[in-house]
Amino acid sequence: MDDITLLTMARDAMVNAYVPYSNFPVGAALLCADGTVYTGCNIEGASYGNAICAERTALCKAVSEGKRDFITLAVTANTEDFCTPCGICRQMLYEFSPNMRVLCGDRDGRYAAHTLKELLPCAFSAKDL
Ligand code: THU
Repeated sequence: MDDITLLTMARDAMVNAYVPYSNFPVGAALLCADGTVYTGCNIEGASYGNAICAERTALCKAVSEGKRDFITLAVTANTEDFCTPCGICRQMLYEFSPNMRVLCGDRDGRYAAHTLKELLPCAFSAKDL
């Protein structure tokens, strides 16, 4: 699957974002090694700390369906600059696929491509336990 298609799926997933507190919808699409894609949006609650990011929504959907090997994550928002995953999302993605790519989109359809290792250098992982 090409980058633009995955970013489009991430953008489409934004419509389901439940963001009454931040008014900041985010969409994500996660390409698995078997070619399947899981999308996600951010979901917030009145107890602010229970918010989940779009990236982790997609990841939890995928892992709970038995997927553990990921090729690319696309994330996007209505931002002027590229929307990048937060630290918690980076760490949780790293748990499963440290070598994956991450596409960070903006409101105009532009994107920056990174490796997860670029976004989370010197990561803590199971090898450190
Ligand atoms: N958020 C995401 O879903 N992904 C990101 O990459 C950045 C932040 C969400 C969390 C919260 O619902 C809102 O954006 C504002 O932080």
